[in-house]
Amino acid sequence: MERELALEFARVTEAAALAASQWVGKGDKEAADGAAVAAMRVMFDTVHVEGTVVIGEGEMDEAPMLYIGEKVGTGGPPTVDIAVDPLEGTAIVSKGLNGAIAVLAIAPKGNLLHAPDMYMDKIAAGTEAKGRIHLEASTKENIQEVAKALKKSVHEVTVVILDRPRHQKIVEEARQAGARIMLISDGDVSPGVATAFEDSGVDLMLGIGGAPEGVITAAALKCMGGDFQARLYPEDEAEIERCKKMGINDINKIFNIDELVRSDDVIFSATGITDSHLLKGVRYHKNTAITQTLVMRSTSGTVRIIEATHNLNKKPLFKDKRINWRINAR
Ligand code: FBP
Repeated sequence: MERELALEFARVTEAAALAASQWVGKGDKEAADGAAVAAMRVMFDTVHVEGTVVIGEGEMDEAPMLYIGEKVGTGGPPTVDIAVDPLEGTAIVSKGLNGAIAVLAIAPKGNLLHAPDMYMDKIAAGTEAKGRIHLEASTKENIQEVAKALKKSVHEVTVVILDRPRHQKIVEEARQAGARIMLISDGDVSPGVATAFEDSGVDLMLGIGGAPEGVITAAALKCMGGDFQARLYPEDEAEIERCKKMGINDINKIFNIDELVRSDDVIFSATGITDSHLLKGVRYHKNTAITQTLVMRSTSGTVRIIEATHNLNKKPLFKDKRINWRINAR
């Protein structure tokens, strides 16, 4: 994929973040998600790819836009598969909390695992810890390995875990191991990716969250040389059947990062909606909105943080009637 595409995809997540940011703290997660999806969809129409959404807002009959199988872009080449999460952290935005991002990952056709929308058990760590984390190892062992890799004591290792009753055991194990723990209410992509940034304050991300979010996190860590492992976590027979229909017959299989994201040619873009471990959220000044976007290409290994100032008077996106804008230029 051409390097110029990275900037085009950065514009796509910027648009979704700007649209979602209008709904911060308004208690309406559907409206926030709808705005992000509409804005992302509008921007995709300007991107020079023949894209297919392989991880998106759901099946065709349950999602009007960015449904799985939907074609996006102006038409190829290149022919790419796209994983999108226009608003990662719907509840976060509705409550005005930290940790929401707009995010996507792109790879040449056939190179992203078509993960069903169910739970996935995941573990993520940065470059130094690559090859040292294992999903089947104990929480204690993983923390000790990350500590060794980072040349820290276990007491200096910070583990991020979604605050859910299902994680009680791993939280206890992490506490007993001596690690620092951050329990988050939602949004495991941002801390998963943050493990690859030395200064993020996150060293390890563990636990069960969404499978689509898992593939997107793996794409980011692939760009940075980090590590990720996952196993699908179907909750009933129907979900097991769905896995099989999608060609995943061994539901106990542990996927490594190269099985989740098969190509070495991946683009990842995420824009902050609210502040997170990774990025600043959207900030408003008179007539302008400022966004921060992380955009990466695995082929070059370049990691860019783009700080953009958007003019509310000039940007065509803010006049697009397909998005229910609430912000106004003055
Ligand atoms: P949404 O943005 O779809 O609300 O998902 C947020 C999220 O917290 C993900 O980051 C995480 O992987 C998943 O939901 C966890 O699911 P659950 O809330 O069911 O535990």
